Amino acid sequence: TTRRPMIAGNWKMHKTCPEAEDTARALVGQLTGKEEAEVMIAPPATALVPVSRIIGDTPVQLGAQNLFWENQGAYTGEVSAPMLVSAGCRYVIIGHSERRQYFGETDEGVNKKIKAAVAAGLVPVICIGESETERDGGKTFSVLDKQMEKGLEGLSEDQFSQAVMAYEPVWAIGTGRSATPEQAQEVHAHVRQFLEKRFGAQTAGAARILYGGSVKPANTAELMALPDIDGALVGGASLKPDTFAEIIHYKR
Ligand code: G3H
Repeated sequence: TTRRPMIAGNWKMHKTCPEAEDTARALVGQLTGKEEAEVMIAPPATALVPVSRIIGDTPVQLGAQNLFWENQGAYTGEVSAPMLVSAGCRYVIIGHSERRQYFGETDEGVNKKIKAAVAAGLVPVICIGESETERDGGKTFSVLDKQMEKGLEGLSEDQFSQAVMAYEPVWAIGTGRSATPEQAQEVHAHVRQFLEKRFGAQTAGAARILYGGSVKPANTAELMALPDIDGALVGGASLKPDTFAEIIHYKR
């Protein structure tokens, strides 16, 4: 199976509309259009529409950072999957550890969000990851298994077929302390095994599993060289277009 790598930038709660437009324009200017990796950026919700106008015909794909699982209704402050589609999104990040940590997101909520995303035609980027205490307690695999079991509950092979997984060890996010290539590969292989048991060898073999947590130009190539690492979900280093372009062009 050949999996097209993906380099995704999660801008988190950064950038006003004009700042986001400038960043997107500069990023497009750094790309040749012949990138091996698929490129995705996830600006804050307010900047989705203006950024989508800028990246329109370019190879850069648009993603959102979150959604709510109902399509419409009295849910003040929330944004639905069809709304994200109408704003130009192809991808949506679901279950990021910051949402779990600060906004009470549960595996059950993640499950509903994945189903809503797929039903609307969005591709979910499903985040899982263990905390430092969980890793030190030898619980990494059991924590990830529970996140995947509950998060993917009731999902058919067909519903999962396009989905992207993202492994983000919480202790590596924004800390400058990336997982070692060995640590990441061990988990990615485990995630793929889980997917194989759950959805079969073909779907598991085709699924992209991204690594996230202090990815930067200096460590991208060694992570991407590993057999089960199919891309990166980049936070801080995606905010500057030239740094992010260096990551996208990790092979050069
Ligand atoms: O979604 C992105 C991750 O949380 C990684 O963030 O690259 O700033 O460590 P970071």
